[in-house]
Amino acid sequence: MHLEPQSALMRASINSDSWGRYYTSNSVSSTLVNAMGCMSPRVIVELGVGKGSIAFEAAKRWNSAKFITVDADRSAITHLDALSNYGEHTHHVQDALDDSLAERIGLDFGTVDVGLCNPPYVRPQWRESFGEILEQAGLSGSLSSVYDAGADLLFIAQNLRLLRKFGTLGLILPDGLITGEKYQGVRSVLLKDHLVEQVVQLPRKVFSKTEAQTYLLVLSKYGGETQSVALKTMSMDGQLSTPIHIASDDAKRRLDYSFHFSGRSEAQKVLPKRLHVSIGEVTQSLVRGSLCSSQLKSIGLPVFHLGDFPAHGLSKVAPGIPSKFTQSKKALAKLPKNIKIAEKGDILIARIGRNLQEKICTVNRGGCVISDCVYALRVAPPHREAVIAYLTSAAGRKAIEATSHGVGAKYLSRFDLLSLNLPI
Ligand SMILES: C[S@@+](CC[C@H](N)C(=O)[O-])C[C@H]1O[C@@H](n2cnc3c(N)ncnc32)[C@H](O)[C@@H]1O
Repeated sequence: MHLEPQSALMRASINSDSWGRYYTSNSVSSTLVNAMGCMSPRVIVELGVGKGSIAFEAAKRWNSAKFITVDADRSAITHLDALSNYGEHTHHVQDALDDSLAERIGLDFGTVDVGLCNPPYVRPQWRESFGEILEQAGLSGSLSSVYDAGADLLFIAQNLRLLRKFGTLGLILPDGLITGEKYQGVRSVLLKDHLVEQVVQLPRKVFSKTEAQTYLLVLSKYGGETQSVALKTMSMDGQLSTPIHIASDDAKRRLDYSFHFSGRSEAQKVLPKRLHVSIGEVTQSLVRGSLCSSQLKSIGLPVFHLGDFPAHGLSKVAPGIPSKFTQSKKALAKLPKNIKIAEKGDILIARIGRNLQEKICTVNRGGCVISDCVYALRVAPPHREAVIAYLTSAAGRKAIEATSHGVGAKYLSRFDLLSLNLPI
């Protein structure tokens, strides 16, 4: 098969090379794979597999599936050797936008159980066959002009053609398709024809060559018209927020967590019937420290542990951490990535021990390293003061005491902490 030099065929739409190559990190790949509901797929396809980060994470989860990977770039295969250690794997050096793709990769359309894809964000030179591809995927009427379809939409279309009914598609998508007004028609078709299960807003800078905003989207082909979509956000350390659920009409407008989250808090201000909002609903991330008590002296920096919570007695203001734990961003950046830290603005809460309700304080400067007995709760700024006031109030302390488990030493689970209701 002859493939034209990509510079002649494509114009990169954002800061990528002419193949539209961005490589997904393992943590994003594993979040995508784990967000997908499919239990035991037989055939998994990844179009534009690149170095295979997503395929490798999928192979760890679904190790008896048959993997079929495709990339137009001949060099991709050099990274994929180890995939066959997990199960059957066939790779094709192939243009994924070929009208007869299924035949070229030894499949029939409508037979694939799982599609995985981080499409190139480029605009391929238009070919007549693209109109047919969009038509067969039900997407031809989704744009005011089919000529506006970029490689991202065409890759989605090819995946939809390959998938069987109820097959699952896991995508990494650019901001345009998720929030752009121009793509409202695309979102409408996806939400109407398929079950869009969830969308996760990824942190900017998650891809090394770009700060572009990207998202994970999981859908089930012909899984029924979408009634509501779960939106989440992912922090730089890979933690997922609790979901917010939006109705499909709101989802047509935009599918990004940050927009609906801020709109939501506005709405809550005028909702007289709503008595409570859970801490989870206003939480950006909840990180648990990574160092156990025997490792506290292992990193050369003081680690904030259970005995370090300053007494706050009956004060309604949570005290700050003692200054010896405060570190500069520079010092914290030198630590290995697996060491969990709390940042300025975080609320520290004891996860285990006695009198958990007394153990709350805040990080007011820099950041600090926390032990695995401590949570760092990051709350969206407009709600932070309300959460601190609640957790240090008599009602909040009572709620923590009541919700923590265990005889003697108690522990507070993530779920229980995020389920605490703030009065509004
Ligand atoms: C954004 S990268 C994603 C790579 C990998 N899946 C990941 O997530 O790390 C897009 C990939 O699509 C490939 N690609 C671009 N145009 C293609 C085409 N027409 N057919 C097949 N692969 C293509 C590129 O070579 C690149 O590996």
